[in-house]
Amino acid sequence: MHTRKVYIETYGCQMNLADTELLVGVLKPHGYEPTQVAAQADVILLNTCAIREHAEEKVLRRLGELVHHKARRPSVRLGLTGCMAQHHREKLLNKAPFLDLILGPDAYRTLPTLLVQEDRDEPLVAVRLDREETYADMSPVRGEGIRAWVTAMRGCDKFCTFCIVPYVRGRERSVPLNALLDQVRALAHQGYKEVVYLGQTVNAYRDGDYDFADLLRQTAEIDGIERIRFTSPHPSDMSERLIEAMATCAKVAPYLHLPLQTASNRVLERMERGYTVEQYAALVERLRAAIPGLALSTDIIVGFPGEEEADFRATYDFMAELRYDSAFMFKYSAREGTKAYKWDETLSEEEKGLRLQAIIALQERISGEINRQSVGQTVEVLIEGPAKRQEGWLAGKSRQFKTVVFPGNGARLGELVPARVVSATAHTLVGQVANKAIGYRDFLPLSL
Ligand code: 5AD
Ligand code: SF4
Repeated sequence: MHTRKVYIETYGCQMNLADTELLVGVLKPHGYEPTQVAAQADVILLNTCAIREHAEEKVLRRLGELVHHKARRPSVRLGLTGCMAQHHREKLLNKAPFLDLILGPDAYRTLPTLLVQEDRDEPLVAVRLDREETYADMSPVRGEGIRAWVTAMRGCDKFCTFCIVPYVRGRERSVPLNALLDQVRALAHQGYKEVVYLGQTVNAYRDGDYDFADLLRQTAEIDGIERIRFTSPHPSDMSERLIEAMATCAKVAPYLHLPLQTASNRVLERMERGYTVEQYAALVERLRAAIPGLALSTDIIVGFPGEEEADFRATYDFMAELRYDSAFMFKYSAREGTKAYKWDETLSEEEKGLRLQAIIALQERISGEINRQSVGQTVEVLIEGPAKRQEGWLAGKSRQFKTVVFPGNGARLGELVPARVVSATAHTLVGQVANKAIGYRDFLPLSL
C-alpha cells in the first residue's frame, strides 16, 4: 500500500492530545504514517480547542500559515478537527473556506472515507454528536515514552454556565471497563509505566455497576503499571469510595487536580458548579486526612460576569489558606452558546488581568514555599528522559507529579529511582540520585 503522511498539530487539553493519537490510529490501517514535518504531509490537521477565545484565534492564524502547503501541492488535504470545528462550523466556512475538512470530536471514524472523496470547493463537514461514540474498539497510536493517556469517558453533562465543553463534546459516556483494562494490559506489555485516565469529568465514569473507584482498583492490579493518575475530576463526583481507592491503592499517585473555579458562593452558584466553597473545603479536608502527602492543583477563573471585589478576595484568601501545590488560572472568556454568554461582562480586560496577576503571584509564592519544604527529603522519580535545560541531566516526575531534574546517573527511561531533593523552585525540584556504579548511598556531586 502506498503510504501517505499525516501531520497533526494539537491545541488545548490532554483530551485533545489523546484524540490526536486516536486520529493517527484511525488513519493507520488506511496506509497513513504520522510525520512531524508539515511540508512532507499529504494530510494536515489542526486538532483544536474552543475553551477560550484566545485558543481559537491562535488556530485561525495558524491555518492562514498552513494553507500555503495546499498552494504548493494541491493534493494536500487541510482539515480542522476537535472542539473548535464543532463550535464554529458555520463561521469557519466563511473564514477558512480553503479547508477541506471540518470534523467534530464524534466524527473521527469518518476521516478515512472523507479523505478519499473528490476535491471540492466547499469543506466537507462532519459534526454530528453521537451519544454512543467512545471509540472503544479503536487503537490509538501513542507517542514514545512511559506515560500513556487513556480516555476513560467522553463528554460532559454538567453544563457549568461558562463552559462550551458540553456543547462541543456532547453528553457524558464511558468506555466499557473491560475495554479499558485490556488497553492498559497491552500498554503495560509495551513498556508503559504510567497510565493517566482522561475525561472531562473523569470521576463520573460508570460502566453498569462499576464506577471510577472500581476502574482504579482493577487497573492497580495490572503488572508493569507503576503509577496511575487521572484528570480532571469534578468535586461533586469525588465519592467516599473513590477517596478510599486512592488512599489504599499504592499505585494511584497522591496527586489530584480538583478544579475550584472560584471561592465565592455567589459566583459558584451563577456558574452552576453544584457545590459551595464549604463543601469543597470539607472535601479537601477528607482527602488530605485519607491520603498523606496529597498534592493538589486546581483551575481558577477570574472575572466571571458579576464577580465583585469581595468575590475575588474570597478566592484569593481561599487559595492562600488552602495552599494548592499549583494552579491553572484563567481570565473568563465569554463563549458563544453558553448560558453566561448572554450576561453582560462587568469587568474590563485590564481589571481581569490585574486579578489574574494577583493570584498568579500568590500561587508562585505558595508553590515555591511548598516545593522548598521538600528539600532534604527523598522522592521517588519515574524517569521520563533527558532534562530540557541541562545537558546530561535527566528529568522525571515524583509521585506527587512534581518535575524533578537531576544529573544523569546511568539510569534509564521508565526506571523508578530515589532522588534526594537539594533545591527547589515553584516549578521544579532539583535532585541528586545515587550513582548506579557506586551504590545508592553515594550521591553524585551536583554541578549546577
Ligand atoms: N473562560 C475561562 N476559562 C474557562 N475554563 C472553561 N471555560 C472557560 C471560559 N469560558 C477553564 C475552567 C476549566 C478549565 C479546563 O478551563 O477553569 O476547569
Ligand atoms: Fe466544562 Fe463544567 Fe463540564 Fe468541566 S464540568 S467540562 S467546566 S461544563
